Amino acid sequence: MATKKVLDILRSITFNGKDIVSGGLLGSLSVEGNRAEIVLLIPEGQEGSVEELKGSIREALKKEGFWAEITHRVKRKDRPFVNVGAVVSLKRRIPGVKSVIAVGSGKGGVGKSTVAVNLASALKRLGYRVGLFDADVYGPSVSVLLSLEGEKVFVSPQKKFIPVEKFGIKVMTFGVLVKEDTPILWRGAMLHKAYEDLLMNSEWGDLDFLVVDLPPGTGDSHISIAQSYSLDAAVVVTTPQVVAVADVLRAIKGFNKLEVKVVGIVENMAYFPCPETGKRYHIFGRGGAERLSEITGIPVIARIPIDEYISASGDAGVPVVEAHPDSPSAKAFLDLAKRLSDGA
Ligand SMILES: Nc1ncnc2c1ncn2[C@@H]1O[C@H](COP(=O)(O)OP(=O)(O)O)[C@@H](O)[C@H]1O
Ligand SMILES: [Mg+2]
Repeated sequence: MATKKVLDILRSITFNGKDIVSGGLLGSLSVEGNRAEIVLLIPEGQEGSVEELKGSIREALKKEGFWAEITHRVKRKDRPFVNVGAVVSLKRRIPGVKSVIAVGSGKGGVGKSTVAVNLASALKRLGYRVGLFDADVYGPSVSVLLSLEGEKVFVSPQKKFIPVEKFGIKVMTFGVLVKEDTPILWRGAMLHKAYEDLLMNSEWGDLDFLVVDLPPGTGDSHISIAQSYSLDAAVVVTTPQVVAVADVLRAIKGFNKLEVKVVGIVENMAYFPCPETGKRYHIFGRGGAERLSEITGIPVIARIPIDEYISASGDAGVPVVEAHPDSPSAKAFLDLAKRLSDGA
């Protein structure tokens, strides 16, 4: 496999008497075809030799037919953002997928799956080729939100999973693989293997965007995904309550640690627009998202109103963007999709 080959090559290059992989200099690696993207972590004070090191890496990879794009970061003694000797992240790209957007949250029940499903649907409506991966093993609600009951995942002659197609979106979820009455506790290595199968061994085809509904918080499965696959951007979903801030902060810190860029905060159930007067009622309070934005510098990129159409379409298994594209919440999701795709 290409990633393994690149790693072997990197292991043959030494820096200060150690090979760069076990020496902790490899911050991240992602290999697609013959193209390797490498981020080096250079200890403070040794920046002088970085260009020479990059040259030797490029040279060694070129000999084996790889083209490398190498950047570096300086690991400061007072602020080491990755511990030396920490797990080397070997992030890989999902074949055929241009951009992966992860949707996370500090805790469950804030509307993370609703946002993931409608973001996917909105991107589709904007004309993009879109996939949706439900990585939330604890509450794989995507199959309910998209009425996938009874759908089957087929395996191609090349032994690849063929995602279920619904509303023009290619969907993979544990929900269609596991019957509701046979709960399975997915943990550790088994979960990791399941992700590997569903993400890397699915026939996504050519996609502009793959939206990933991550489990809430920063647990095992979260780390398993964010450490293994290149996530191009993450959005975190929160509600307006100020009490939710600490949970979301933890989630954002988790993403930072795993070097996933959080591009925006989505405030869900932000307000209730009175259908008669249009006046906005802040039923769940206000200020939480602003506060988060102030602390983290991450912008609030969408405010999704409380919308009865959302719960109704959730129950009916049709995304609100699809069922009621003119409703206030659908418009907010379409704006979110525009904003994300413009920046992607
Ligand atoms: N903006 C909203 N307006 C009304 N109901 C919403 C809204 N967002 C989510 N819901 C409802 O809240 C519940 C939880 O949403 P869900 O997306 O499953 O949360 P999570 O994935 O974070 O656990 C669902 O019943 C959903 O229909
Ligand atoms: Mg969910």
